[in-house]
Amino acid sequence: MDRDTVIQKTVDFVKEELFHAEGGHDWWHVYRVWKIVRQIARRENADLFVVELGALLHDIADSKFHDGDETIGPRKAKEFLESLKVEPEVITHVQKIIANISFKSAAHHQEFRSPELDAVQDADRLDALGAIGIARAFNYGGHKGRPMYDPAIAPELNTAPTINHFYEKLLLLKDRMNTRTGKEMAMERHRFMEQFLTQFYAEWDGTQ
Ligand code: ADP
Ligand code: NI
Repeated sequence: MDRDTVIQKTVDFVKEELFHAEGGHDWWHVYRVWKIVRQIARRENADLFVVELGALLHDIADSKFHDGDETIGPRKAKEFLESLKVEPEVITHVQKIIANISFKSAAHHQEFRSPELDAVQDADRLDALGAIGIARAFNYGGHKGRPMYDPAIAPELNTAPTINHFYEKLLLLKDRMNTRTGKEMAMERHRFMEQFLTQFYAEWDGTQ
């Protein structure tokens, strides 16, 4: 099977798998990550086929929704790619990307690194930044019934107001990017979030 067909079949598979996914990790998140990662990979000398498969398959089974089981995603990806007769080395690499991509496991210790994982991880993080990042954060907070903002609650780890999530995670991401291209894109999105926060507080206080 040629590579374009493998990618197309993977797109169809992921769309189906994520049909019932909640807003933060739906097909459109994967679609955006897939688009961004191609820009990064082209400029960073990463293997485009591995990168595209990694991006497409990175969220097919979030451990949060499977009792913390982090082996389901890589296992499902393996079964699927084997059914398409993809080369074993590519499958193993894609599995490692899925297993090591998340912010959480990176904060502990990341056991594996490659230019391809670096690219997919950057693309996933970029989708948490900028206008889309802001939209996703408030969508997530709304889904959880959380307040947008509470001036009495300072940001620490895992406080409820969605605005606090910017300080607890989103504004920290620009310094955690792996690739030069990712860093450049993150800087732009970071600045946009800072502008958003300035405007948000001004409107909150009625000074704007
Ligand atoms: P990932 O799986 O990409 O590491 P998460 O599942 O933690 O990230 O988050 C998915 C999306 O939901 C991201 O856009 C993230 O910013 C947002 N999100 C996660 N936790 C919160 C939170 N406490 N408040 C607001 N948004 C959140
Ligand atoms: Ni993701």
